[in-house]
Amino acid sequence: MCGIVGYIGHRDAYPIIIEGLKRLEYRGYDSAGIALYNGKTLHVSKTKGKVSDLEARFETKASKHGTVGIGHTRWATHGVPNDINSHPHTSNSGDLVIIHNGIIENYESLKQELTARGYTFKSDTDTEVLVNLIEDVKLQENVKLGQAVQIALNQVIGAYAIAVFDKNKPEEVVVARLGSPLAIGIGEKDNEFFIASDASPFLEYTKDAVYLEDEEMAIISRKKGVKVRKIKDDSLVPTYVQKLQLNLEQIEKGGYEHFMLKEIHEQPKAIRDTYRGRLLRNEAIIKMAGVEDNMKKFLNANRFIIVACGTSWHAGLVAEYIFEDLARIPVEVEYASEFRYRNPVINENDVVIAISQSGETADTLAAIKLAKSKGAFVFGVCNVVGSSIARETNAGAYTHAGPEIGVASTKAFTTQITVLTLMALRLARAKGTISSSDFRKYLLELEMIPNKIEKSLESDAHIKIISDIYKDSNNCLYLGRGFNFPVALEGALKLKEISYIHAEGYPAAEMKHGPIALIDENMPIIVIATKKGHYEKVVSNIQEIKSRKGKIIGIVTEGDQQVKTLADHVIEVPETLEFLTPLLTTIPLQLLSYHMAVLLDKNVDQPRNLAKSVTVE
Ligand code: F6R
Repeated sequence: MCGIVGYIGHRDAYPIIIEGLKRLEYRGYDSAGIALYNGKTLHVSKTKGKVSDLEARFETKASKHGTVGIGHTRWATHGVPNDINSHPHTSNSGDLVIIHNGIIENYESLKQELTARGYTFKSDTDTEVLVNLIEDVKLQENVKLGQAVQIALNQVIGAYAIAVFDKNKPEEVVVARLGSPLAIGIGEKDNEFFIASDASPFLEYTKDAVYLEDEEMAIISRKKGVKVRKIKDDSLVPTYVQKLQLNLEQIEKGGYEHFMLKEIHEQPKAIRDTYRGRLLRNEAIIKMAGVEDNMKKFLNANRFIIVACGTSWHAGLVAEYIFEDLARIPVEVEYASEFRYRNPVINENDVVIAISQSGETADTLAAIKLAKSKGAFVFGVCNVVGSSIARETNAGAYTHAGPEIGVASTKAFTTQITVLTLMALRLARAKGTISSSDFRKYLLELEMIPNKIEKSLESDAHIKIISDIYKDSNNCLYLGRGFNFPVALEGALKLKEISYIHAEGYPAAEMKHGPIALIDENMPIIVIATKKGHYEKVVSNIQEIKSRKGKIIGIVTEGDQQVKTLADHVIEVPETLEFLTPLLTTIPLQLLSYHMAVLLDKNVDQPRNLAKSVTVE
C-alpha cells in the first residue's frame, strides 16, 4: 500500500520520480505528490488523484528542477484522499519533508504531545505527526537528521517505509523500514542513488540494489554512499548489494491494453516457469528443495493449515481438495486475518502453509509469526523473491510468475495452484497414496496444462461477446463443485473487484439452501460443469436454474453436448484430470470479468479502493 520513490544524484530527479511513481501506482493511486530540492528551495507539489494528475499540475505550475527529490503514490489509511492529506508532508519549520508507506498506530498520543509543545497540523495523517516528531527530536536533542529519525522511530508503534529529506542537509536522504518494503538502487556512478518500494522504478538505471530488512534504516549520502544501521541501537549493518534479475520488459504492457490482459495471457509461460526444474517427467520425479529438506515435517504433520487472503486464499482452498485427495493429508484453510486473532489451537506437529503473491500482506505475515511462536513449521508460497513472507517462513517454494502488476490477481493464482499441486504430488508419492503409474500420468498431464491454457485463451472473442450481453447486470452468481468450488469464488471476486458488479460464488449444491431465491430472468449464473467429477449433479443444478429462468453460462469440457442444450452460452475448456481442472476453468472466468470491466469503461488495472499489496491489517 502506497508507493514511495526517491532520487539523489546528478540527474534531474523529476522524470525519474514521476516514471517511478507510475510503475508503483499498483500499490495505491488515490493521490500523489513530489518534493524537489533545487539547491535553494524545497518545492512540494501534491494532489488528490493519479500520478497523471500530478504530472498535469507540473505542466502548468510547478518547478521540475532539482537533483534530489522524493515522491509518493497513496492508498489512504489516515485521512481521506485529498490534496492536504497527500504526501509528501512537511514539518512545521518547513525544513523536513517525508514520504511514508504504512501506519503509525500511536500517532494520536504523539500528536497530543507535539500539540502541547506548540506544533500544529494541517492534515489528518499519521505521517505529518511523524515528520514533526523527527523535527522535534532533532531540535530537542540537537542531533543530525539520521540520528533524529532513529530516535523518533524508537517512539513509534506501527509499520513504515519512509524517506526523509532535510533541506539544511541536501547531500543526503534518510530511509527506514519496518513491515513495508524498501529498496535502494546504487547508481553506476558512485554518487547516484534511487529509493523505491520495489526495484521497478530504477531498473533502467541500475541492477544493483540494497534491500533494507525490517528495523533497519539507511543514510544515503552523495558523498559517503549508503550506510545501513539498526533502528533499535544505531549499530552499523554490513551493506549487502544484490544483482537484480528483473528486466524492464517484465514490467511493461508489451502491446496489451492492460496489465491484467497481459498477465492472463502470460499464464502458460508462468506455469512452465513455475514447474521448470521441478517437474522432471522423464525421470518421474518432482524436485522441490524446500519440500525435500523438510520431508519429515511434512510426512509427520497432524494436518496442514493454509493461511492466506483474497485470491491466494482461493488457491489455498483448491489446494485443500488436492492435498486431501492425492496425499490424504487433512487440511484446513484459514483467512489469515481471522486466524491471527482467533487464538487458534496449533502446535509443533502442524505444518502451516502461507500463500501470498506479494509476500507483504500484513495479515498473512502476522499469521505466520503467530504460527511460528506456537512451534509450527511454516512453509511459504510466494511470488515476490526476497519478500517479507519469503524471509519470515521456515522454508518455501516460489511461484515463478514474474511481476504481477494488474491489481486483480491472475497468473499468481494459477502458479500458486501449480506449486501446491507439485507439493501434493511429491508428498503423495512419498506417502505411497498414489501409484507410480498414476504419478507418471499426472506429471504428463500437468506438463500439458500450459498448452491447454493456450487453447482456452482462444475463446477470448467468444467471451467478449458474452460479456457484452451481461455487462449491465446488477448481480452474478458463480457455481462450482469440488475442485471447482474455489474457482467459482475466485470468478466472483474477479468480477466484483474490477467491474463493481455484485457477484457471489457458491458450491453448486448449496444453491437450493438460499441463493436460488435470487434467480430470475435477469440473473446470469456462471456454472462450472466440466465432465469430470460431479458432472451429473451439476447438470441437475443447471436444470433447477433453467426452470427458474436464470441465464446460464456453462464452463464445459470441449465437445460437451448435454450442458449445451440447457445453457444460454457455453465456453469450452480442454479435457484434463479432475484435480487439474481449476487451472483451466479459471481462464474463461478471468477473461469474462476483464471484458465486462473494459466494456463498462472501468479502470481494470487500478480498480477503485484497492491496492496490490495490502501491508496494513
Ligand atoms: C484479488 C487480489 C487480492 C489478493 C490479496 C492477497 O485479485 O489480488 O485478493 O489476492 O490481497 O494478496 P497476496 O497474495 O499478495 O498476499
